[in-house]
Amino acid sequence: MTEERFQRAVACFQRRELASAAALCDEILADQPDHVRALGLAGLLALLDGRPEGAAERLARAAALEPSSYDILSNLGTSYVRLERFAEAVEVYERALALRPTHKPAHINLATAYRAIGQYDKAIAQLEPLLAEGGEDAPLLAEFARLKVLANELDAGIRLYRKAIAVAPALLTARQGLAYTLQLAGRQSEALEEYGKIAAGLPQDARAQADLGLALVKAGAAGQAIGALRRAVALEPKNTTARAALGQLFRDSVPSWHVAMLNDEPRNAAYDAAIRRAVRPGSLVLDIGTGSGLLAMMAARAGAGHVYACESVPVIAEKAREIVAANGLADRITVIPKSSLDLRVGDHLPRKADVLVSEIVDVILLGEGIVRTLAHALAELVAQGAASIPRGGAIHAMLVDSPPLYHCDRASRAAGFDVSAFNEFSRYNYFTTNVRYYGHRPLSRPVEIFRFDFTRPPVRSETRTVELPIAESGTCHALVSWFELVLDDQGRVTSDPASRGSHWMQAVHLWNRPRAVKAGDVVAITASHDADHVYFLVDPD
Ligand SMILES: C[S@@+](CC[C@H](N)C(=O)[O-])C[C@H]1O[C@@H](n2cnc3c(N)ncnc32)[C@H](O)[C@@H]1O
Repeated sequence: MTEERFQRAVACFQRRELASAAALCDEILADQPDHVRALGLAGLLALLDGRPEGAAERLARAAALEPSSYDILSNLGTSYVRLERFAEAVEVYERALALRPTHKPAHINLATAYRAIGQYDKAIAQLEPLLAEGGEDAPLLAEFARLKVLANELDAGIRLYRKAIAVAPALLTARQGLAYTLQLAGRQSEALEEYGKIAAGLPQDARAQADLGLALVKAGAAGQAIGALRRAVALEPKNTTARAALGQLFRDSVPSWHVAMLNDEPRNAAYDAAIRRAVRPGSLVLDIGTGSGLLAMMAARAGAGHVYACESVPVIAEKAREIVAANGLADRITVIPKSSLDLRVGDHLPRKADVLVSEIVDVILLGEGIVRTLAHALAELVAQGAASIPRGGAIHAMLVDSPPLYHCDRASRAAGFDVSAFNEFSRYNYFTTNVRYYGHRPLSRPVEIFRFDFTRPPVRSETRTVELPIAESGTCHALVSWFELVLDDQGRVTSDPASRGSHWMQAVHLWNRPRAVKAGDVVAITASHDADHVYFLVDPD
């Protein structure tokens, strides 16, 4: 009766009627819990059904009852592997192998289990004899290569992967392993070549595109990396590796202030108005540092005949082109992915421009190279007497009492310890913030520090001592500086802390040791610039 039932279970199993086979085994085991063959078959069925826990339990009982069954031990080993109980898998695979010392799958299984517990030498010892027998098994060669790499024998791993690829050129694990190992060995250009081949052969495979993207990042080819990573994300939107790498690349090449700048309505409105005043129907306009293309589009809307818009960061230039096209202005704006310093009339512009627009200023006004850039453009790229928006600017500053600002960039004690030496790292720099968000009290009136006319180069380096009369007694923590950008006779934009919402924010120059001041005192600071950088010496102690 039981035997007949078991035979029916086997027949069901052979016909792939797995649920019926399992039900019959359960019936047998209900009557005879120690029926070894039913336990073995039930274990295998549980394994096939994706229930390794149930499989391991039944197969372990079967193996205890019949320790000399290779199949039971082998299936038990597989159950343990699935459960990531690798040490137990090694133990049962060793026992299985003792029963069939020449059985290739047993060696491979054992090698896999040894690899999983980090015993690479033992894993290698399992595979070495198999390869000696006949080295034409590509998956085996690839697995052996992997073990060699794990054992830090990179050159051997590379050789074996190449051998596996020679046998089976399409074997992806070998191709990926080779590329990875070349990278590990510092052979970046060979690794890149391999990743390139894999990605070219698998254009619809997100991992292949992501791997290529990451290899391109390592090789410093950001532009191409962006392309590959974009493809990976398009193929698999949830690919977090590709998304993170793409995010990092964009962060590195596109400063995050671009978006805050685009949302700075007072800035946009002032530029728009100044551009409308300067542009005549048919004007040829040059926009230096077009970013999203915004000022170029304003100029086109104001009636320019054509706008040439340059942008030195390629990925930003590509985006400007996309935005210009999306706004229906592709035929009136030419985006040039170059620095203005590399433009030539005749090559990039048909003639010198009638109007120059730019907005290449940072919190300290000069830090983005506006002086140098406009001097070059006025000399080489725009017509005599052409309007330049902006045409000048000024830097202003005031003294403030503000413990919260001071504590943004100076430390004294932490958890009872003196950590003040750490301040050396910040004391030679200003930091940028929106001082409106920190309680502060002005101690002096705002004072103009420098004024620039960008249209009359050269702008010469300057150092001056500025005396700031104290209007209110208090503790002087910082000099806060900002700028005013002169667009034309009527238009200004400013990052004055009193003007709400400027995306530029302000530069905060801290005293290392706060200084008590009283109304009527005069605080002298030294300010200098070299047309590129601005430095405030507030506290020489
Ligand atoms: C502050 S953003 C302004 C973007 C845009 N004009 C706007 O107003 O919204 C300045 C841009 O100029 C680019 N840039 C700076 N100097 C440049 C130069 N000499 N030639 C071309 N691009 C430049 C930067 O990469 C950046 O994208």
